[in-house]
Amino acid sequence: MKKLFTIVLLSMGLAMHSQTQDSLSVHQEKMQWFQDAKLGIFIHWGLYAVDGIDESWSFFNGYISHEDYLKQTKGFTAKRYNPQAWVNLIKESGAKYSVITSKHHDGFALWNTKFGDLNVVKSTPAKKDVLTPFVNALRKNGLKVGIYFSLPDWSYPDYTHFTRDSLRYDIKDQPERWHRFLDYYQGQLKELSENYDPDLYWFDGDWEHNSEEWQAPEVRQLLLDKNPNTILNSRLRDQGDYATPEQGMPITRPKSKYWELCMTMNNSWGFQKNDLDYKTSDQIIGIFADVLSNGGNLLLDIGPKADGTIPEEQEHILKDLGRWTHKHKEAIYGTVAGIPKEHFYGPTTLSKDGTILYLFVKGDPKGEVVIRGLKNKINRIWVVGQGSKLEHQVVGKVYWSHYPGITYIKIPDYVLDGQLTVLAVLLDGKIELYREDGAVIESN
Ligand code: GLC
Repeated sequence: MKKLFTIVLLSMGLAMHSQTQDSLSVHQEKMQWFQDAKLGIFIHWGLYAVDGIDESWSFFNGYISHEDYLKQTKGFTAKRYNPQAWVNLIKESGAKYSVITSKHHDGFALWNTKFGDLNVVKSTPAKKDVLTPFVNALRKNGLKVGIYFSLPDWSYPDYTHFTRDSLRYDIKDQPERWHRFLDYYQGQLKELSENYDPDLYWFDGDWEHNSEEWQAPEVRQLLLDKNPNTILNSRLRDQGDYATPEQGMPITRPKSKYWELCMTMNNSWGFQKNDLDYKTSDQIIGIFADVLSNGGNLLLDIGPKADGTIPEEQEHILKDLGRWTHKHKEAIYGTVAGIPKEHFYGPTTLSKDGTILYLFVKGDPKGEVVIRGLKNKINRIWVVGQGSKLEHQVVGKVYWSHYPGITYIKIPDYVLDGQLTVLAVLLDGKIELYREDGAVIESN
C-alpha cells in the first residue's frame, strides 16, 4: 500500500525518494504507451443522444424530470451503429486509443450488465450489447481500449444522490444501504475488467464522496490485480496515474508528469443537435500542438447520435486532424515536451533523445522563423512531411562569450502547410539552451 501510494505521488509529479527508483521505473514502463500515444478519442454515447440534451446533468439540474429523461430509452436504437466504421475513423484521425462511456452518471450501461436493468440490452430497442463489438474492433485495429465509468449512479435507488436538490439518504444513517451500492458498482467494475480487460479506466464523478467512502484504494487494487498494467485516470480520488484537466488548455505546463486534456469539439460531450458551436479544425490542431508542446495528450470528444452515426461535423474534424497527424507523425508520436517559449514563440516538441527539435509554425511567418539561445550547431533543417531542406543564419553570436545568438530559419511560402507547418531541426547532439540573463555580455 505504501509503495502504491509512492507510485501515485511520483506519477503526479511529487516528491521522489531514491528507494522508490524501482517502482518508478515499473510505473514509467506501464505509462509508456500512454505517453507516446498523444491523441485519444473520447466517446460520450448514451440516452442523452436521443433528445440531444445534457448527459445526465439535464435531470440532475432539473431541466427535465428523471422519469422523462429515462423515456429516451425508447429512442436509443443504435440501428445504424457500425463499430468498425467508428474505429476506422478514430484510426484515421491519428488517435492511438479511445475512451468510451460504459456508464455515465445517469446509470445507463452500454453493456449487458448483470447488475440492474438500465442497460442497452434490457431497456432499449437496440437490444444488443454495443460496448463489446467496439472494444473488439479497437483491439483488432491495434488501438488501446479505455473505459469511462461514472462512480455516481444517480438512477440507482441505493445511491445517495438523486438530483441537485434531493439526496436519498446520508451514509452515516444507512451504512448498509451504501454497502449495497458499493457491491453494485464494484460488481459492474469487475464485469468490465473481466469482459474487456481495459488498458485504461477513466473514472468520473469522484467529487460526490471521499476516497474512503468509494473504497478507492481497494478499487484500484481490484483492477490492478486483474491487470497490473492497466492505467487509471486521476478521478478516483487519490488513486490515479495521470492528471485530467478538462476543457481548458493549461496555460502553464502542468506539474504532473503524465496528463491528458479532455475537450469537446463544440460545447457538449454528447450529441446535441442544436450545438453547432464547433471549434475549427485549425483551432483543434493548434490546441493539440500546445498539448504536445507541454508533454500531454489530447482526449478529443465525439458524441454519436442515438442511431449510432457520428455527426458530420465531427467526422469532418477527425478527418482534418488525420490529414495533419499523418503528415507530421514524426513530430508527434513518441516525442517529448518541447522547449520554453522564450526560445521559440510557438509550440515545440523534441525527439526522445533530444537531438531533433520540432517547431510548429502557425500561418505564414513571411519568410523566416526565429529560435533564440540555441547552443547547438544545427546539422540540418527540413519541412516535416514535405521534405524541403531549409537554410538558416545565426546572428548576434559573440565570439568572447558563450551567448549563442539568434537563429533565423528561412521558410519559403510554398512549403507551408494549410493548417500548421512543422520544421525538424537536427542538432549536433542533445539540445542545449542558453538560459543565462545576458549579464555576461554586458560585463565584458
Ligand atoms: C464532467 C462531467 C461529465 C463529462 C466529463 C468528461 O466530469 O460530469 O458530464 O462526462 O466531465 O470529462
